[in-house]
Amino acid sequence: MVTGTTPRTLFGYSSRARNAVDQPISYLMALALTQPDLISLAAGFVDYDTLPGVDTDTLMHEILSDPAASKAALQYGRTQGLTELRELAYQHLAKCDGISPADYPGNPDCVALTTGSQQLLHLLADLLIDPGDIVITAWPSYFVYTGALSVFGACVRSVDIDEQGIVPEKLDALLATIAEEGNLHRVKMLYTCTHHQNPTGITLSAERRPQLLDIVKKYSTDHRILLLEDNAYRELTYQGEAPVSIKSFDTTNEHVALLHTFSKPFAPGLKTGYGLLPADLCEKAMMLKDGRDFGSANLSQHLLLRALQNGAFEKQVNTLRDAYTKKRDAMLGALDEYLGDFMPKETRWTHPTGGLYVWLTLPESIDTSRHGPLFKRAVELGMLYVPGDYCYPADPTRTVPKNQIRLSFGVPTVEQNREGVRLLAQAIKDVAGV
Ligand SMILES: Cc1ncc(COP(=O)(O)O)c(C=O)c1O
Repeated sequence: MVTGTTPRTLFGYSSRARNAVDQPISYLMALALTQPDLISLAAGFVDYDTLPGVDTDTLMHEILSDPAASKAALQYGRTQGLTELRELAYQHLAKCDGISPADYPGNPDCVALTTGSQQLLHLLADLLIDPGDIVITAWPSYFVYTGALSVFGACVRSVDIDEQGIVPEKLDALLATIAEEGNLHRVKMLYTCTHHQNPTGITLSAERRPQLLDIVKKYSTDHRILLLEDNAYRELTYQGEAPVSIKSFDTTNEHVALLHTFSKPFAPGLKTGYGLLPADLCEKAMMLKDGRDFGSANLSQHLLLRALQNGAFEKQVNTLRDAYTKKRDAMLGALDEYLGDFMPKETRWTHPTGGLYVWLTLPESIDTSRHGPLFKRAVELGMLYVPGDYCYPADPTRTVPKNQIRLSFGVPTVEQNREGVRLLAQAIKDVAGV
């Protein structure tokens, strides 16, 4: 929220500007800032204590103390990003999927580096969406992106998820309905966060991955429907083997855009993300990016290149896995301890194998929304959560549930995670009259 005097007349805003509204999450962030004693299980930020300050300092010094490296890094770079980093990013994607780079879909020329993966998500929406076009997302979904889709005037339709992610039969049924309505030509993309989804922490199961791709191909009759695979939390896997990406099944590199970021596994302050895209889409995306910024921060890219080369990136991922495992376990343990004994059996929560989020479903009688009694009581007691209704896209065909909560264990300490859940349990008891 920007403050200032109220103007007498408005600017001639575009339809996109008219569609842009304040993200509801900004209210929560402002609340956390004005009441610093609140234990926030709401923030989607990363752990402060493990941020790689020392390694970043070393790498920055290496770059700036070497005249040639310093000149290269402080100069503008290319729109698509630093070639060597694109090559290493491509190798990293192949390695995550256990496939040799020689056999992986696409090639490093189809990798684009952007200002966070958010910029690439936005560019892809800009490339594909005219007002009224349809984007299919999970129900619930990553709300910052579904908010951005609304700005483009997209009509969001949604598919249910269960504990294995998007249900393929439901996706197929939805696309069949849209086709019957005569609107298949308006479906431009399926957006899905495949590992440790924001907001539920749920990972799409291995067997459903090729199924989703097959469904998208089946309905790509008028044009290719893009399967946008957002893998922001891929490296933050704490338990078991993460399934391979959907991209790995897109052998001809025609249908899937696979997006990763350096924000979650390294440092969001470097604000660098990347994607492996179908070649023609990558080319178009770079045409748009040319006019936006003709390249993301070159210095960040030079630093990340060195972090990948000298092992600092891998070391950081291991550090984060250890730290977040402890925090996740603290939150899950506290949910068992404080909610397990008194809540009715409809109460359930996810047990994520990675990422930063736990999704809590309460009985329907408990309104978790911002203007409901639970949110107010939780803040009075000293904790903050994200009301689950924030995480549902504006699908005109659906009613948003109001009995869910997104909890994030990333920023609070182990003790604060436990205490935050204890306070939440107390708030639930108070409003439910238990
Ligand atoms: C699912 C998901 N995708 C993308 C992003 C964007 O991250 P960044 O732009 O920092 O890469 C986030 C950030 O929280 C996210 O949760």
